[in-house]
Amino acid sequence: MDLLSPRPGVVQIKPYRAQRPPKDGRRWIDLSLTQNPLGPSPAALAAYRNAASHIHRYPDWGQDALRHAIARRHSVDVDHIVCSAGSEELIHLVTQAFAGPGDEVLCHEHGYRGFLKAVRAAGATAVIAAERDMVVDVQAMIDRANERTKLCFLANPNNPTGTYIPIEAVQRLRAGLPSHTLLVLDSAYADYCRRPDYSDGTEIVETSDNVLMIQTFSKMHGLAGLRVGWGYGPAGVIEAINAIRNAFNVGAPAQAAATAALTDRDHEDATYAHNAVWLPWLSRELERVGLRVYPSVCNFVLARVPPDPSMGVQAVIDHLAGRGILVKPVADYGLPDCLRITVGREEESKALIAALAEILG
Ligand SMILES: Cc1ncc(COP(=O)(O)O)c(C=O)c1O
Repeated sequence: MDLLSPRPGVVQIKPYRAQRPPKDGRRWIDLSLTQNPLGPSPAALAAYRNAASHIHRYPDWGQDALRHAIARRHSVDVDHIVCSAGSEELIHLVTQAFAGPGDEVLCHEHGYRGFLKAVRAAGATAVIAAERDMVVDVQAMIDRANERTKLCFLANPNNPTGTYIPIEAVQRLRAGLPSHTLLVLDSAYADYCRRPDYSDGTEIVETSDNVLMIQTFSKMHGLAGLRVGWGYGPAGVIEAINAIRNAFNVGAPAQAAATAALTDRDHEDATYAHNAVWLPWLSRELERVGLRVYPSVCNFVLARVPPDPSMGVQAVIDHLAGRGILVKPVADYGLPDCLRITVGREEESKALIAALAEILG
C-alpha cells in the first residue's frame, strides 16, 4: 500500500515555529511580531465585549456591517469587498482560486513569506524576482512574467524590509504585467505610510480589471488576535473568493470589533503619532549602537548586524532574550544577518537599546 503523503508543495512548507515569550513569570517585551504597542482600539474592545453575549449564533456570512463600514471609510464600492480571517487567509484564498499546478506566481526576493506558503499550498510554482538594496525592482518583476504567470504578489510597504515603492512604480508594474495576471497588492502597512508618492492602490483597483488590494485590521487597529482582513477588487475576483471561502470565516465579535475600530479616529491618530516619533528614534538609536538600519515606513525596522566573527545574529538574539526581549530573526527571508524589530512603547524601545548597547558597545 502506498504511504499517505501530502501534495509535493505542502511538503516544502515549514510549519510556523516562531519564538514565544516563555511563561516564566517575567514580563517579556515582545518586539518580534508587528503588533500595535498601544493595544486595541477602545471602541473595538467595547463592541467585542458587547458581541460576546451572542456567540451562540453564527456570524453574518455576508459580513454586511463590516463591509459597509469599510466602504464608507475608504470610499469604495461595498459590492467589491470581501473580508477574511486575517489578510493571511485572503492571500491563501486568492491563490487557491487563481493558481494551481503548472501555474506560476510572481513574488519578490524579500517579500512577505505568507505569499510563498500560499503558492506552495496551492501546488503552483513561485517565481522570485530580485530586489535592489531591499526595495522591489519593478522591471525585474516584469521580466519574470510570462504566459503561465497567474498572480503577482506585491507587499507595499513590505515586511520585513519596511521599504515601499511609489504608486507610479506600482502602476508601471501593472502596465508591464500580462493582462491574464492578477496583481495582488498587499497594503497591510498602508496606514503607517503617509508619503505623498505612496498610495494603498485603491485607484489602481478602480482603473483595472485585474488588481486586488488587501488590507488588515491587525496592525494600525490593533486587532491581530481577532483575525480580520479585507480585500477590494473586481467583481469576478471577489466572486471567486466568496465562492471558496468558508461562509462564516470571520467571527461575529471580530466583525463587530473591526466595524467599531473604523470609527475610532482617536486610536488611529494616537497609533500613527506614536509611530511617527518612535520609528525614527528607534532607527537612529539602532544605528548609534552599530546596526545598519534600512529606511522603514512601517511599524518595524529591518536592522543588519555587522559582520563580527565573535558575535553573530544569534548571539544578539540570545543576549536580548536574557534581558527578556524578543526580536524576529529573518533568515527565512534570505536575510541571515538581519533582525526585524517592532516599534514598541517608549519604555520597551529604551530597554531594547540599553540591552543592545551592552553587547554592541
Ligand atoms: C505584508 C503582510 N501581509 C499580510 C500579513 C498578515 O496579517 P494578518 O493575517 O494578521 O492580517 C502580514 C502580517 O504580518 C504582513 O506583514
